[in-house]
Amino acid sequence: MKRIGVVTSGGDAPGMNAAIRAVTRIAHSKNCRVYGFERGWEGLITNAFRELTPRSVGGIIQLGGTILHTSRCLELESEEGVGKAAKTLASNSIDGLVVIGGNGSFKGALELSKHSDTLIAGVPASIDNDVFGTDETIGFDTAVNTAVDEIDKIRDTAISHERIFIVEVMGRTRGFLASTVGLTVGAEIILVPEVKFETGKIVRKLEENNAKGKKSGIIVAAEGVGDTRKLGAEIERDAGTEVRLSVLGYAQRGGSPTARSRLLASLFADKAVELLSQENGNSIVGLLNGRTAALDIKKSCETEKPFDLSLLELANVLAS
Ligand code: F6P
Repeated sequence: MKRIGVVTSGGDAPGMNAAIRAVTRIAHSKNCRVYGFERGWEGLITNAFRELTPRSVGGIIQLGGTILHTSRCLELESEEGVGKAAKTLASNSIDGLVVIGGNGSFKGALELSKHSDTLIAGVPASIDNDVFGTDETIGFDTAVNTAVDEIDKIRDTAISHERIFIVEVMGRTRGFLASTVGLTVGAEIILVPEVKFETGKIVRKLEENNAKGKKSGIIVAAEGVGDTRKLGAEIERDAGTEVRLSVLGYAQRGGSPTARSRLLASLFADKAVELLSQENGNSIVGLLNGRTAALDIKKSCETEKPFDLSLLELANVLAS
């Protein structure tokens, strides 16, 4: 392995820069040169890259976003796009490619691997934590902490006004972010796409809480549960209580990565470069039971990460 490419793709996640830094420095320590492709898959399609050196990745470990920029590139979904990306890798003699991203990026990587001899290692980075093959993705912990900081503030005003707040967090179609955030802010109710809910049950729970003396409350809802504005209006109507909606939005994707996100970035990068230098490709790396591990990228793409209901059950008891 002489030349390693690195690309950040899809939605950004705090810790991507720490991963770029770690890939570059670890690869250099193994006498490899490193090339960073710009703007996600777009850079592979248009042959846009720059050389990364241990010095050029200095001072970025603490930065959110990605210095390489990122995009959601539909062109890679076409055969023509994949062909162009494969050509870029071949013409630049890239032996191994580290793809830092989430499920969408790994699906692209899988397609690319069918048309290219370059070995690929996926490094899971997504605030959604929805990648099969790792207990946690880079950026998840930072997004959880960002949401928790915001909701702690919302709690203050909820208590003052004796109001119910629905706080919508990201997560795409999954509830990993919502369940962890919900538990750690002490939410009265957590709504995730994996569990069907009935508005009537939410209203009854709020009425019970009110009877117990809980005059305010936080409902943490994953964006994937649907129209939270409509839900808020229904609860307000049926429970006869003031309901406000706060959509946390893109702030969850930014900010300085937490120590945990930086740690995962460094560990995953180490594992990814190790795999490539052993000529072992087309895998994603991850954290399983506290240790870094590797999994076939196809298996990761084809398998839905299981959702742990016990977190919701615990949160429910804690919110009593
Ligand atoms: O996958 C990360 C994520 O932030 C999801 O939580 C969200 O649904 C989506 O990306 C938003 O995507 P975009 O940046 O394309 O608007």
